[in-house]
Amino acid sequence: QVAAASGHTVILVDQSDEILKKSTKGIEESLKRVTKKKFADKPEAGAEFIKNTLKNLTTSTDAASVVHSTDLVIEAIVENLEVKNELFKRLDKFAPEHTIFASNTSSLQITKMANATTRQDRFGGLHFFNPVPMMKLVEVIKTPMTSQRTFESLVDFSKAVGKSPVSCKDTPGFIVNRLLVPYMMEAVRLFERGDASKEDIDVAMKLGAGYPMGPFELLDYVGLDTSKYIIDGWHSLEPSNPLFAPSPLLNKLVEEKKLGKKTGEGFYKYK
Ligand code: 3HC
Repeated sequence: QVAAASGHTVILVDQSDEILKKSTKGIEESLKRVTKKKFADKPEAGAEFIKNTLKNLTTSTDAASVVHSTDLVIEAIVENLEVKNELFKRLDKFAPEHTIFASNTSSLQITKMANATTRQDRFGGLHFFNPVPMMKLVEVIKTPMTSQRTFESLVDFSKAVGKSPVSCKDTPGFIVNRLLVPYMMEAVRLFERGDASKEDIDVAMKLGAGYPMGPFELLDYVGLDTSKYIIDGWHSLEPSNPLFAPSPLLNKLVEEKKLGKKTGEGFYKYK
């Protein structure tokens, strides 16, 4: 959405036409929200903006068959290294020589993905934040193999889509998640111990620390499955780090498919 809105030609790829239809509808709705604000007293310019953005966007269910026309591939699929590596390996065969590959992973090592391809120097991380149309940050991740030219292209692209890039080495969680995820897990542990209610913890962090959402609202917003993937991955890397300890409550909710806002229930109910 943000790439298309800033004049880039975008091919959105997913597994089925049904998912793509849902995604396109989500983009249209989000564009309406952005437009309402950006073009508050110019509805015609707003309608033109939506039309032009959607014109820049096409969809496909076959990444390998469309990658030949790309300069940049941004992967945002399931947080599973093997699945990501398989996709990158396949795309590496069909993508032009100059095409840069980037992953939007929340917690996996970019270096491991780069090593699945033959373009380690043209590989980096581009980590966006939910909701992407609103959040101004992008973390640009440079592995030891990422060339300076690739890094600068990723920084330039981030600016071209209207974001403020920061850079970070390929370390677990980069900057934001390395601080945010242990904080959210500490909130869950506080609640699990019975020290405070989740509602009070959320109110406390909103009114006492000025956060726009409390930790439980944010966990539901990010997705409990995503949060669990992240913490489990880090726990396996550093089992003795108490900040990375898994939470029985989080595990139970994920097992029950209560994944947060997207499924209608997580720590809170949304129906
Ligand atoms: N698309 C377009 N516009 C959107 C939007 C979307 N998906 N979501 C919200 N907005 C707009 C609304 O239209 C609204 O515009 P307005 O000011 O003109 O009315 C504005 O954002 C504010 O929205 P709301 O009034 O609905 O609600 P809030 O004021 O609470 O703001 C929020 C919503 C921007 C999500 C805010 O609560 C927030 O900043 N929350 C924290 C989000 C956060 O921490 N994100 C990072 C998560 S971590 C992550 O993504 C990393 C990953 O790896 C796990």
